[in-house]
Amino acid sequence: MKKMAGTTMFILSLSAVLTPLSFPSAAAVALPLSTVSRWIIDGDGRRVKLACVNWVSHLEPVVAEGLSKRSMNDISHTILSLGFNCVRLTWPLFLATNDSLASLTVRQSFLRLGLEDSVAGIQANNPDIVDLPLIEAYRAVVSNLGVNNVMVILDNHISKPGWCCSSNDGNGFFGDTYFDPDLWLTGLTRMANLFNGVANVVGMSLRNELRGSSQNTNDWYKYMQKGAEAVHSANPDVLVILSGLSYDKDLSFLKNKPLSLSFSGKVVYEVHWYAFSDGSAWKNGNPNKVCGSVMNNMMRLSGYLLQQTPLFLSEYGLDQRGTNVNDNRYINCFMGTAAEFDLDWALWTLVGSYYLREGVAGFDETYGILNGDWSSARNPSILQKISALQLPFKGPGLSENRPHLVIFHPLTGLCVLRTSWAGELKLGSCMESDGWKYTPPKTLTVLGTYFCLQVDDLGKPVKLGIICTDLNSKWDAVSDSKMHLSSKTSSGKTVCLDVDSNNTVVTNACKCLNSDSNCDPASQWFKLVETTTTPKPSKSVNRMLQLPGHGKIQSLSW
Ligand SMILES: *[C@@H]1O[C@H](CO)[C@@H](O)[C@H](O)[C@H]1NC(C)=O
Ligand SMILES: *[C@@H]1O[C@H](CO)[C@@H](O)[C@H](O)[C@H]1NC(C)=O
Repeated sequence: MKKMAGTTMFILSLSAVLTPLSFPSAAAVALPLSTVSRWIIDGDGRRVKLACVNWVSHLEPVVAEGLSKRSMNDISHTILSLGFNCVRLTWPLFLATNDSLASLTVRQSFLRLGLEDSVAGIQANNPDIVDLPLIEAYRAVVSNLGVNNVMVILDNHISKPGWCCSSNDGNGFFGDTYFDPDLWLTGLTRMANLFNGVANVVGMSLRNELRGSSQNTNDWYKYMQKGAEAVHSANPDVLVILSGLSYDKDLSFLKNKPLSLSFSGKVVYEVHWYAFSDGSAWKNGNPNKVCGSVMNNMMRLSGYLLQQTPLFLSEYGLDQRGTNVNDNRYINCFMGTAAEFDLDWALWTLVGSYYLREGVAGFDETYGILNGDWSSARNPSILQKISALQLPFKGPGLSENRPHLVIFHPLTGLCVLRTSWAGELKLGSCMESDGWKYTPPKTLTVLGTYFCLQVDDLGKPVKLGIICTDLNSKWDAVSDSKMHLSSKTSSGKTVCLDVDSNNTVVTNACKCLNSDSNCDPASQWFKLVETTTTPKPSKSVNRMLQLPGHGKIQSLSW
């Protein structure tokens, strides 16, 4: 059992400005965090789902990005108001091991790089830090996130400050030019010590994206074990987060040989998953096939760990301009997967623009959720969509409800809802969804009722009926993606669940079931997601429906 002494109560306000629908106003998290089976839990044994955003602080200036554009407090507040509960805050190893770097002031650090404009911006927006040493400025950011109830994961992203990552940048694996294992252990120990007692620092990622020609599993076990022990002994409160090989895609080797550590209940593995992890496969292939094969691959390389260990998807993201076909196809497969497994995650990235990236001052970050001047969201609809993944669907201590299903629509981040007791079905917030069950012979029934989902006809809205034995009430998950819900009309035509332009749930001819690569099936992708959250509307309506002929049925309000 965890000891409760020293536990800090931490209030996470999850009210999101972009998502007015039913976020719980506040959830109390008792820090520090630990793990049980595949879950991250707090001191009360309740699941804490990490819904983080990556905030970059490892480039040449070694200052958290954006502080020349907006005040630290504004940025922290924005992170929370967008529904994130945590930041993965990157740091370069040399910040912790090179005292002449760590003691440069913010002003000096920018000036040595010729970034006078950034100095002026920091002076205007964050005058308190302009003459602080870099390490103190980093601490100030962590502390401000804490004041705003945002948890922090310290991520050792690279050794030598600069953009990461390539296979031959000298930062990829133990023994590379800038990656001395002993210096790394020293740096981890210093950071773990420095933030010992800082309650909102809940985890430390030992090293980002191990990679390159010298990577090997022997050294992985040897050094990751030492790194994990070093961090844990300097700061036993933090989760110790371990990256795999090949840019944090591959943790398959753990299947045969688990890591051996002197402690337990604190270890989390991390994995990264982008569209470009598979080159241009999404753009050039059939999205059903690509989603199926990428998913299988991920389960084999890392996803299998969820049988017994937390797996933190610590980087994923997409071009927020919405014009990158490869990314647009991938993200819907990602959404379905992240919902199904109810993953902990960190989106890449908060950053709207960098002070300096790869030699370009003011580099615009198209994967950033904020725009180039950090004043507003680059693409509110993407934020709205991923907000569906910010709250947990299930996990220890969250609810007494028995598990049931919601019918999740990855393209919109919404779920299939009843709009009246047996009327039209529409997409809406998953928090408002009925519970569903999927029972032999493949019937989808509204929990606590006799109503099952039925095909009316091609191009028509689906309906709810009570005679659930016909073919039009039988739903199969088809295609390699397993995300089409397919059924038949009464005349025997095969159809797939779909939505029309008004978000009404309909059935249409199934899309992209052949190998066509010019075709996007996403409007027809649905995922049955298990949850224990309270099925909201059904409570009152079910009570009525269990009493057939009850006179008050017309008076139900929605
Ligand atoms: C330490 O940092 C200073 C200031 O950036 C730099 O000039 C020096 O080369 C660094 N030393 C090492 C060993 O990296
Ligand atoms: C969507 O709703 C509008 C307004 O009610 C209606 O005119 C339109 O026909 C609907 N579109 C579809 C595809 O049903």
